[in-house]
Amino acid sequence: MSTQHVLVTGANRGLGLEFIRQYLADGATVTATVRDPAEARELAELQTRVGERLTVEPLDLLDGDAIDALAARLSDCAIDVLIHNAGYMTRHDFGHSAWADFETHFRINSYAPLRLAEAFARQVAQSTERKFVTLSSLLGSVAANDSGGLYAYRASKAAANAILKSLSIDLRNRGITVLALHPGWVRTRMGGANAPLDAPTSVAGLRQVIAKASLANSGDFLQWDGRTLPW
Ligand SMILES: NC(=O)c1ccc[n+]([C@@H]2O[C@H](COP(=O)([O-])OP(=O)(O)OC[C@H]3O[C@@H](n4cnc5c(N)ncnc54)[C@H](OP(=O)(O)O)[C@@H]3O)[C@@H](O)[C@H]2O)c1
Repeated sequence: MSTQHVLVTGANRGLGLEFIRQYLADGATVTATVRDPAEARELAELQTRVGERLTVEPLDLLDGDAIDALAARLSDCAIDVLIHNAGYMTRHDFGHSAWADFETHFRINSYAPLRLAEAFARQVAQSTERKFVTLSSLLGSVAANDSGGLYAYRASKAAANAILKSLSIDLRNRGITVLALHPGWVRTRMGGANAPLDAPTSVAGLRQVIAKASLANSGDFLQWDGRTLPW
């Protein structure tokens, strides 16, 4: 039985929900954050089976004060693995950029990881595993961009990578391992029906990458099967 406490953002569907399922199956205690708990039916169903091992907390990542308030509510909890999974993507191709929506990408995909790290560093540092993980994307790699477009999403995930690299340096003396992870192209609402990977396979791989990681890997940009990705 695992004694881990794992917190996952955007846990009502897609990869976030799959993280919850797999960590619960492993015996972990899990905090799932969602925008609207009343709509999170799969989590409610899981709760009937695992009881107090699963807590569902409301959190809209556009609201920085709500992040701080959640951290205050969980101030006594050691969090072994914090996974910022929630993400936002709409198409921004050349000639179709939109100012307000660009900002939304940056708030959820780039600034939320920093705000979460600032709010939860103490809870992660007091745990056994001490891991802070964000789901980035290969689309945030500047070096691997060979198809253009998707301006807001690519830029916001590239910014997330830069922020995670700084966090890996700033949090090293607290023993916190920071990772930027790409889940592969996965069949979820964001990934679409044509994606080659299913969520259980992607998340099983990501969990292995997280479990194996140590301070020696902090600041790495890795994909679901452990391969290092170019920045
Ligand atoms: N699927 C892929 O192929 C792929 C590839 C590379 C990277 N990723 C990354 O993997 C992560 C998970 O993606 P996914 O495929 O599981 O996507 P998804 O099925 O579209 O799920 C996105 C999640 O983010 C949540 N979210 C969006 N805006 C939020 C906000 N303001 N506050 C709180 N939660 C919010 C959504 O909640 P609501 O239900 O309330 O909207 C949902 O739970 C994302 O960071 C994504 O960028 C995915």
